[in-house]
Amino acid sequence: MILPIFTYGNVVLRKQAEPITPDYPELNTLINNMFETMYYADGVGLAAPQIGLAIRLLIIDLEPFKEDDPELGSFKIVMINPTLLEKSEEEIAGEEGCLSIPGIHETVMRAEKITIKYQDTDFNEHIETYYGYKARVVQHEHDHLEGHLFTDRVIPIRRQLLKSKLTSIVKGKTSCSYKVKTA
Ligand code: NI
Repeated sequence: MILPIFTYGNVVLRKQAEPITPDYPELNTLINNMFETMYYADGVGLAAPQIGLAIRLLIIDLEPFKEDDPELGSFKIVMINPTLLEKSEEEIAGEEGCLSIPGIHETVMRAEKITIKYQDTDFNEHIETYYGYKARVVQHEHDHLEGHLFTDRVIPIRRQLLKSKLTSIVKGKTSCSYKVKTA
């Protein structure tokens, strides 16, 4: 089932998301719906707050990159209760967008390397280190669980220029190809 994506201005996007336990109701259905929603919207990552649930759950599928970079293209993951353990001091610039902030793409600095702890769908714990674009996407999605959005991380002068566009999104004056829930 395709779910509406909550856009900028919805309070749920600013909440600290809560951990979940294996008895969370219909978790597999929820995860399947999140993938369906993400694919429909042509996204490569989606966090639960973006579909209105303040829980620590995110999905990523970098399949669209498979022709340019097969290793990246095979990265598909569900992370439950992720915690960032380490971030490198070294940061790299890269362009980001977000399904909750349609029409905006900006350069964001992100740690080049991260180590993250998470549980898979069987609630087995994993600790992984990621570099480069994988690290960027994981940080972007993890940020959603902390109530942060990529536009918070844009340099101040650019952020100033974004204000009116963000206000338009809050007012629901946005057009996109997928179903949204405006504030
Ligand atoms: Ni996002």
